[in-house]
Amino acid sequence: MDFKLRIWRQDNATVKGRFETYRVSDISPDCSFLEMLDILNQQIIDKFEKPVCFDHDCREGICGVCGLYINGRPHGPDDGITTCQLHMRKFHDGDTITIEPWRAKPFPVIKDLVVDRSAFDKIIQAGGYISVNTGGTPDANAIPIPKHNAEIAMDAASCIGCGACVAACKNASAMLFVAAKVSQFAMLPQGRIEAKERVEKMVAKMDELGFGNCTNTGACEVECPKEISLSHIARMNRELYAAKIL
Ligand code: SF4
Ligand code: FES
Repeated sequence: MDFKLRIWRQDNATVKGRFETYRVSDISPDCSFLEMLDILNQQIIDKFEKPVCFDHDCREGICGVCGLYINGRPHGPDDGITTCQLHMRKFHDGDTITIEPWRAKPFPVIKDLVVDRSAFDKIIQAGGYISVNTGGTPDANAIPIPKHNAEIAMDAASCIGCGACVAACKNASAMLFVAAKVSQFAMLPQGRIEAKERVEKMVAKMDELGFGNCTNTGACEVECPKEISLSHIARMNRELYAAKIL
């Protein structure tokens, strides 16, 4: 397969970026999107030019660092997957593919397609953890947890912090990410002890870092590679409301 690539190039957050056009050919349909970018970068390096910077680590949909805006959609045209799990068979031979970084003020561009998502780390540092003594593994196993609650907590815990929800949102809201982290602990007895403090601190940090508000558009849920449900946002709002009045 042959492709024309329009790729965002930007030296850092303080200078203007621009699209540059490249061509790749003889790409296998079974090639992953990141492998296709590896092939492109080898071509660029062979010409002694600067390769395109993009982020990646696990290439298995686990670490959450590989997010790219591909043809106007976070993580590209497939549903429920990360960019590293996207394959070239999802495109047509001869397609033009536009590749951009996440575009959100709290995620400044570091270089080309790489953005700084440390704002998410700061939100987690504000309260996305359990600090009380929860005992050892046998103690955890001895606490009965309703299956329904355990499943909700597990679904929430599948959030990989990729930031696609922020990139997809017209308000650059981080509500889906924060709600997943709040729900993950709020549904378990070990997490209930600090639930009030946690939701207040995480929401305050999210607001302080410049993420926008949720206006129930739902783009975050549609583009989330882990299909995190909007219902977690409703739960977070209930948790916050209860924390404020109780
Ligand atoms: S909620 Fe989904 S889109 Fe947002 S950071 Fe988590 S996994 Fe990524
Ligand atoms: S590289 Fe880890 S999720 Fe894509």
